[in-house]
Amino acid sequence: MAQDWKNISEAACAVLNTEKATDKATVARQVAAKWRTETLAFKFTETPPTRPARPNRPDLLAPNEMPRRRKGGNESNRRALLHAVAHIELNAIDLAFDIIARFGAKMPRGFTDDWIGVGDDEARHFMLLNSRLKAHQSYYGDLPAHDGLWQSSMDTATNLPARLAVVPMVLEARGLDVSPAMIEQFKSTGDATSADVLQTIYNDEIGHVAVGSRWFKFLAGKLNREAESWFQELVSKYFHGQLKPPFNTHARNRAGMPASFYEPLAKKA
Ligand SMILES: [Fe+2]
Ligand SMILES: [Fe+2]
Repeated sequence: MAQDWKNISEAACAVLNTEKATDKATVARQVAAKWRTETLAFKFTETPPTRPARPNRPDLLAPNEMPRRRKGGNESNRRALLHAVAHIELNAIDLAFDIIARFGAKMPRGFTDDWIGVGDDEARHFMLLNSRLKAHQSYYGDLPAHDGLWQSSMDTATNLPARLAVVPMVLEARGLDVSPAMIEQFKSTGDATSADVLQTIYNDEIGHVAVGSRWFKFLAGKLNREAESWFQELVSKYFHGQLKPPFNTHARNRAGMPASFYEPLAKKA
């Protein structure tokens, strides 16, 4: 894979334009390593694609077209769960490099530093899940996946505070709510390795929500907006789902997002 990127936006777009999932994760990690050795200029010359390149499979469906998962802890459910999380991680790689390429130029350098760290984590998460899928006689692309995450990204392509409110502060925070039960499910079926992988991801994701809420508060301060009410306004306008309790308040608090941010939205729903 070529690595002759001249600046951070070229490198970020290289991740977005990589089609094969494992290659995308590899390029993401290479870009992060290069950024950390300061061999990439903090310069923005490229426009990111509306949609990142993706492999032919999985088929991307609207969320309401997704096959319903039956309750219970059988092998095919566990495989579907690992596949769903792998798909989220692949989207998360693209989302991290998209936010850099799209919005990094107008933000302090620390913004790019933070999202490079997130993108590197997401690439590592994808690789970990890919290896768990293999252990379960499967692979990424084996099952259909939903396109809701990229839809949210396109809805907020020109509005950074809305992107931060919807992607890290609603969608990634939702991941914190559902992870502990998922980890328990793998533990109880004797798949301690998958449980460990999901635990690692969970710990890292608290940091990602923290990055999102920190930069959201930075913008609120800069524009003299009250962070909680601004967050609620943006979520109501740009997020087309519901905020579903129960919330993992412990993890959300650690990520700098107290209940005063999201509880009023859940009540309205
Ligand atoms: Fe992740
Ligand atoms: Fe994340």
